[in-house]
Amino acid sequence: MYPIIAFFHPEGLEVVLSGTKNLSKSPDYDFLQPWLKTGLLTSSGSKWKSRRRIITPAFHEKEILNTFVDILNEQTKLFINLIEKNAQNNNAFNMYPKIAACTLDIICESAMGFTVGAQLQKNAEYVNAVVSITDIIFKRQRSPWLWPDFIFKLAPIGRKHDKCLKIIHTFTQKANLLLKQMHQEHLTLNDIQEEVDTFMFEGHDTTAAAINFTCFMIASNLDVQEKLHEEMKQIFGIGDDDERPCTMDDLKSMNYLECVIKETLRLYPSVPIIARIAQEDFVYCGHKILAGTTIAIFVYFIHRDPKHYPNPNKFDPDRFLPEQSAGRSPFAYIPFSAGSRNCIGQRFALLEEKVILSSLLRKFSLKTKQTSGDLRLAAEIILRTETEAMISVEPRKN
Ligand code: HEM
Repeated sequence: MYPIIAFFHPEGLEVVLSGTKNLSKSPDYDFLQPWLKTGLLTSSGSKWKSRRRIITPAFHEKEILNTFVDILNEQTKLFINLIEKNAQNNNAFNMYPKIAACTLDIICESAMGFTVGAQLQKNAEYVNAVVSITDIIFKRQRSPWLWPDFIFKLAPIGRKHDKCLKIIHTFTQKANLLLKQMHQEHLTLNDIQEEVDTFMFEGHDTTAAAINFTCFMIASNLDVQEKLHEEMKQIFGIGDDDERPCTMDDLKSMNYLECVIKETLRLYPSVPIIARIAQEDFVYCGHKILAGTTIAIFVYFIHRDPKHYPNPNKFDPDRFLPEQSAGRSPFAYIPFSAGSRNCIGQRFALLEEKVILSSLLRKFSLKTKQTSGDLRLAAEIILRTETEAMISVEPRKN
């Protein structure tokens, strides 16, 4: 038993998310530690602070971001070829496995410096281990009888966990990586490995879920899709030029696609719950919250607060046009969390979503017979659909 305060509305969140008092993660994250050790996501105090300072430039320096765009284009090309095969028959299919293989290839190449080949079904052992271990950790978080290490280690699920760990760590030891481009002299090989594992965890399933939901929203809102096709036509034209890779300038001009991505992340935030631990007593709405209390932030509900989003369940990308979002509380929209412990990969994630989605839109029309009401959601570590989103992909007419 431990005390929890849960946030379902943005009011008061500022006290928790900004400032430096509540930066440590709750015990729920402890089960990630055998895998991620104390990398950026799970560390705290001075270790977190110095790592964050060392890693941040990798996500802001122009030269590094341009290298990422090359990787994004290359892996997306392969993804589009694989999707094209499905476009030849008009049957609806679940795009998620193909999207997840693509985002895994992208983060591997960006973080580790070599291709893992998930899309080509190479290194299946590592790829399957990453998928399985995420599932196992989630099951453990929800099963108090599996919390004590000695019981977990004896149970079949614990033995599978350890087997996956061995495969994953043997693989990521080979990483020479993202951080190489940075101030590597500050980090030992073990330090680098825990960050690579962290990026593999945080950087592939989150974007895969976001891209899958966005495809579904595009497929089920044909008026939105038409506007997106128009935007692509304006940026890439029609004809020979429309096969060329995306440039950074192209990505910057995808304003409407950015609204669509943001609105999808509002309705379907990839990380539906964030949890911290109060490091000091604080006052919330006149109540004293004691140090040691777990703070659970229900991003999914915060994003559907009618006070900040009239008709909150309606998919309306225009909410993110500059004139409509002006004045909205920054704590009413937190798909990447907020404050100094926010998502370090958010720029990368947005670039990735834009490259993959624009490449799909340039070639195809997406359709679905399902509505958002048909999708049963499961709030695991990542927000997923229990019912598969079935989408058909047809070559674009113009
Ligand atoms: C749509 C995609 C993404 C979403 C919605 C997302 C969301 C988040 C959220 C909510 C957090 C805070 C988690 C917490 O406090 O428990 C976070 C942290 C983090 N994310 Fe992301 N993320 C995405 C993509 C990425 C990518 C692509 C990378 C890597 C390239 C990444 C790397 C990280 C890392 C390392 C942290 C920990 C940061 C720290 O504690 O200093 N994320 N992300």
